[in-house]
This record gives sequence, structure tokens and C-alpha cells, in this order.
Amino acid sequence: MLAVVVGLALLVSWVIASMHRNHSSGLKDIPNAHFSVPYSRLWLLSLRWRKMENRSRIHLHRRLGPVVRIGPRDVSVNCIDNGVRTIYSSKFDKDASFYHELFDKTGFMVTMIGNDEHRKRKRMLSYPYSNSYILNSQTLDSVLSRVSRRLGEGIAEWARIGTSVDVYQQAKCCTLDVASGWLFGRENATDTLRDPGFENDLATLASVASKIVSVRTSFGWPISYFASLIGNGEPDPDATGRWQAWLTRVITDSHRRHPTKSASAASLYDHFYDSFKAANPDMSRNEVASFIAVECDDHLSATHIGLGTLLSYTMYELSRDPDCQRALRKELLTLAEPSDRSLAHRLANLPVLDAVVTETMRTRAPCPGPFPRVVPDSGCRLAGKFDVPGGTVVSSSAWALHFNPVPFPAPEKWRPGRWLEADENTVAEMRKWIWTFGSGARVCIGTHFSMRVMKELLATIYMDYETALDDGFTGNVEQEDAFSAAPLAGCLKLRFRRLT
Ligand code: HEM
Repeated sequence: MLAVVVGLALLVSWVIASMHRNHSSGLKDIPNAHFSVPYSRLWLLSLRWRKMENRSRIHLHRRLGPVVRIGPRDVSVNCIDNGVRTIYSSKFDKDASFYHELFDKTGFMVTMIGNDEHRKRKRMLSYPYSNSYILNSQTLDSVLSRVSRRLGEGIAEWARIGTSVDVYQQAKCCTLDVASGWLFGRENATDTLRDPGFENDLATLASVASKIVSVRTSFGWPISYFASLIGNGEPDPDATGRWQAWLTRVITDSHRRHPTKSASAASLYDHFYDSFKAANPDMSRNEVASFIAVECDDHLSATHIGLGTLLSYTMYELSRDPDCQRALRKELLTLAEPSDRSLAHRLANLPVLDAVVTETMRTRAPCPGPFPRVVPDSGCRLAGKFDVPGGTVVSSSAWALHFNPVPFPAPEKWRPGRWLEADENTVAEMRKWIWTFGSGARVCIGTHFSMRVMKELLATIYMDYETALDDGFTGNVEQEDAFSAAPLAGCLKLRFRRLT
């Protein structure tokens, strides 16, 4: 009896204290997503655990406006001016508790919390990822032409026998083969388009990691540990072993070849090694190599999964829209005309291709978010009317921004025409809302690389072939609402037909 009374007394005091805290909180004027959010994070964490966070944000912002409170110290932001542009500036650090739960390892750019450490690393890496470098890179020319050739051989066979093809897996094979060559040199590129065993290993490991991520970012330690025992499989030790052995081998080989590499054949490893060594002259070769391994590991998985998802959904959407496919092919055939410009430069300037890619980036963003930031001590003002105190965790979601019906009427419709028909000002306004790669100080460094790879592989496919939905495929084609949003079915099946 005494225990019940004490328990009730504690509960009542907690409720009174929480109400008092909320009353004096700087966030009290912001619309609440749920009646409980001023007092507890449970509602937010349960959404994350059930993988409903980003989809819920789309509807919350439509109902409650651009700034919504989603926890006692958590705010969701869905406007660009006085919103995303403010919170993704260099003054706002990443939320350490979220990012460090998200990844097993730290020490690479995505996981760096403070902007000073990040700025130094970014300076070392940004040159080979700049648009001009990417468009003119001979290493990328050579890696992409090898992958395009392999892909062309595969498609010719699939079209000949009329088979149903899991394009999600094939896209991931393409992007893995490109990324491994780009990072570690042509000689170390994987060949998973021909032999998908290694892609299977990585996909197995990634699927376990994505479950663990959802558990970890929903609960704090130690609950996350126990929840992970219930909610997750252990990573396959054989796949883990093969993956680590491969990474060690290619890093060692890149390291061995580095002193004799010519500039035209330089891989990202070579660039990174030189700039890392220049910034840290006393560091041993082995130490430098292990720093690079952690960074490259992340670039590899971003390309393999992120770009694989985007490429396969672009093919899927095109398969649902034969008119758009015809317009794209007509445009791609102009590449046969003589020109003194390189293929990469010409592909970058094709409007239909660009509209197709941009519209898929909008409707099928592979990393929907959230990307939490911490408001600095000086506080900030959001949407021109909410004064948010320092220490608040603010975040945006690519899906919520991309499905806003104001910049994008009928937002659920995949309609590349919206980019081709609108006037210049409207297109500029729409572009402001595209957030597939984030924005501001921590925008994705792989943006230009991703664009070049996507466009070149799409050209390889749609110049000579058309794709169509496979009527026998009934899997769920919607995306998982998770940090890395793969198709729920785990595959996307299409058929190929050769055009004469
Ligand atoms: C379609 C594919 C991709 C998508 C959707 C994507 C998305 C993103 C997003 C949204 C961020 C910001 C994360 C944050 O604010 O916490 C980011 C950061 C980053 N991405 Fe990507 N990415 C993709 C491909 C790539 C590729 C191909 C690479 C490397 C080759 C890459 C490397 C990085 C790195 C290093 C960062 C951290 C940047 C920084 O902190 O300055 N990503 N990416």
C-alpha cells in the first residue's frame, strides 16, 4: 500500500514538474505533434522504432505548419528560408547522441560532430569530389566505361531471354563496381555484375546494420542493447570476414601502388593519402592508411546502397511511364552526333535526363533523414516567429520537404515534366526544396559523383533498351522508412527489351 502511495506521489510530482517545465519552455508556442511531446520523447522514439518517422513528418507538417514540436527538446522543421538554411549552417553542430548511435565506427566525416574537426577533414577530401574534377576524371572515365560495358552485356542477355531482372540488386552491383574502382583504383575494382557473391555479402551485412540502426536510434543505452537482442540478427560472421579481408587487401594494394601512380590514374586513396600526409607529416603510413580505410568504407556503402537505390527507382519509375522513356531515348540519341565535348559534359546538360533524375531524387530520396542538429547557446528564430532556445535538437526530413504540396503540386506523382514545363523562377524555387543530399556546411560530398554515375549508367541502359514492369512481381515497392530507405520488398523486378 505504502509503495502505491509513494509511486502515485512520484508520478504526480513528475507530471507537475513536467507541466511547469513546459510552461517555462521556449518551445511552448510551437504546435505539438502529439499531446505527450512536451513531457516525453516516447512518442517520437516509438515512431522511429516502428519505422514511421519520416512519413509521419510529411502529414504533421501539412496539418500543423513548418515548425512542429516532436519531443520535450525536439523540433521538426519544414521550411527552407528561416528553417533549413538556418539549422544546417556551420553554427549548428550535429547531435552526437543520434550520430554516434547510428554508426559502429566514428572518425569519418559523417560522424564528426563539431564543425572545426569537420572543416579540416573536408578540406582534404573536397577536391576530388568537386564537379570539375568529377567531370574530367580519367579514373572515373575508365571505371565507368568498364562497368557500362559489363552492364550492356548483361542487359543484352536479359533482353534476349526475356527474363525478369531484380534491378535493385543489379543497380547495387553497378554502383559497387564503380565505387570500388574510384576509391581504390581500376585494378582493385570489384566485378560483382559478373559475380554477385561479394554484393550479396555486403547486402547481408547492410540489412542487419539497418535493423540495428533503427533500434539504437530509438532507445538510449542500455535499453538499445537489450532491444537489439530481440530485434536483430547477428551479422553473418562469414560475410563480415570476407568483407574485412577484401578491404584490407585493397587498402594494402592501393598503399603499395601509391608511390608510382600517375595523376591520370589516381584513385581517391591516392588523393586522400597525399592530403592526409601533408596535414599530418608525423603520422606513420599505417596510421594514415587506417584513417583512410574508415572514410572509404563509408563512401563505399553510400555509393553501393544510396546510389543503388536511386538508380533502381529511376528505372522503376521510367518503366511505369513509357512516354517519358521515349522522350528520354530521343534525347539520348543526340549523343550520337559529333561533338568536341566529353560524354560526361554532354550528359550533364541533357534536360530530360536531368528532369528524370531530379524527380526521382524528389520522390524516392534514399536517405530521408532525420539529420539532427543542436541549436547553439545563442538560440535561433525559426519561420520568422518561433524563438528556439540553445540545446534544442532541430531536424528536417527530405521526404517531408519533398512532399510539400506548395512547391510541388500533386507531390506524390512522379512527373519529370514539372521540371521541364515550369518557368525559370518556379524551377529555381523547386530546386531550393530538393534535399536528397542535405545542404549547407554538411552537404553530401558525393553529390557530383552520384550525378555523373547515375546519368552515365542510365544512358547505357536507355539508349538501346526499354524497360517494363514485370506483371508477375507483386512485392512491396514502397521504401522502408529508415535512415537508408531501400525497397521494402528487398528487390524491384523489371524486364528489358531491345529497341531496333
Ligand atoms: C544517392 C546517393 C546518396 C545520398 C542520397 C546521400 C545523402 C547524403 C546526405 C543527406 C548527407 C548529409 C548527412 C547529414 O547531414 O548528416 C550526406 C553526407 C555525406 N555523404 Fe552522401 N549521399 C549519397 C551518396 C554519397 C556518395 C556516393 C558518397 C561518397 C562517394 C557520399 C559521401 C558522403 C559524405 C562523406 C558525407 C558527409 C559530408 C560531411 O559531413 O561533410 N554520399 N550524404
